[in-house]
Amino acid sequence: MGWWRARRRDLHLSDAILPEAALSIPCRAPTLAVVIPTYNEAENVPLIVERLRAVLTGIDWELIFVDDDSPDGTAQRVRAIARAHPQIRVLQRIGRRGLSSACIEGMLATSAPYVAVMDADLQHDETLLPTMLQQLRTEPLEIVIGSRYVAGGGVGDWDDQRASMSRLATRLGQRLIKADLKDPMSGFFMLRTELLQDDARELSGVGYKLLLDLFATHPGPLRFRELPYRFRPRHAGESKLDEAVVWEYLLMLIQKWVGPMLPVRFIAFSLIGASGVLVHMLVLWISFKLADTSFLVAQSVATLVAMTTNFFLNNLFTYRDRRLRGWDLLRGWFSFVIACSIGALANVGIASWLFEAHSFWVLSALAGILVGVVWNYAVTAVYTWKRPKAD
Ligand code: GDD
Ligand code: MN
Repeated sequence: MGWWRARRRDLHLSDAILPEAALSIPCRAPTLAVVIPTYNEAENVPLIVERLRAVLTGIDWELIFVDDDSPDGTAQRVRAIARAHPQIRVLQRIGRRGLSSACIEGMLATSAPYVAVMDADLQHDETLLPTMLQQLRTEPLEIVIGSRYVAGGGVGDWDDQRASMSRLATRLGQRLIKADLKDPMSGFFMLRTELLQDDARELSGVGYKLLLDLFATHPGPLRFRELPYRFRPRHAGESKLDEAVVWEYLLMLIQKWVGPMLPVRFIAFSLIGASGVLVHMLVLWISFKLADTSFLVAQSVATLVAMTTNFFLNNLFTYRDRRLRGWDLLRGWFSFVIACSIGALANVGIASWLFEAHSFWVLSALAGILVGVVWNYAVTAVYTWKRPKAD
């Protein structure tokens, strides 16, 4: 029959190709995988590949780019090179963003026993890699870190603001972990792949703080060494470390400090809510006492103004990383006012119900306020400041 013959032909075809293919595919398992997270780094790709090729001679290596669907076509650029170099590939993530999670997924994609992470923009000193590997292989170390803050290292030509910001982040990070790490914010390190595979499920995977995360997560101390290097200026493109990343880091630190039971955003939300009482009283006093409006009108105006200042303050601080702009601001304000109005009704309802049931008036009021705040926080977290889709 026709289809049968076709199948036979296919079989013959692949029979003919297979032995040849087996001969031409070099079959050496990699010893070292280098994982490079990328977002809009197309121009840097050929350069970093060339630098790594030059420095990794004598080592069986593979190179894994993890690209978050960069609009500048970084992934295509990698594929173009990978066609001629099977030890290079790209893991392209769609609809996702995040440096740490990109590194983790890249590291999980290799079978090599040693894995390094470095940036694509040539800021990290790739000539350190052979030494890092050598030390991991011959000494009882689990992780070797490229460090800007040990003798011989440096941050290069950073402006004062970036340098002091980095120092502050570093100091705060050091408090989180027990190890005496000089550069816990380093994005350049090499480790035994096993270590990552063991701890991967416990890592937070958020933001830029992967190394810190590795140290904080690992049960027991990690055997580490820091090797100095000088942080170079970025080659092409621009940094993605923006204020949202910094804010996220601060929230994470505060969260560790206040404990996992109270979300740090809830604390910020409540503090801003308390400031709203002051705003309310001020506006009430101005319109009722000075402008001589009726109490009902003055109270209503004060309520709306306080809600509005609360909305903007929350937008600026509590949800800085999801900040609403443009038309979203109007939509957000509207949903905030609706949510808080319902919250106020719930507050009054519960407080008066408790009061009727012969509760002490202060406790009744506090219980009402608590219910109102929790309601406002929960509802606006979902409707006003939705978690954004990856951009
Ligand atoms: N896949 C992916 N997704 N890659 C990303 C993302 C992302 O959302 N954001 C940044 N990257 C990639 C960049 O393309 C680059 O290769 C690398 O991660 C570092 O990003 P930069 O934007 O260049 O960061 P930086 O130079 O400002 O920050 C460096 O210093 C920090 C500490 O001061 C990095 O080395 C950080 O790792 C380090 O924490
Ligand atoms: Mn960089």
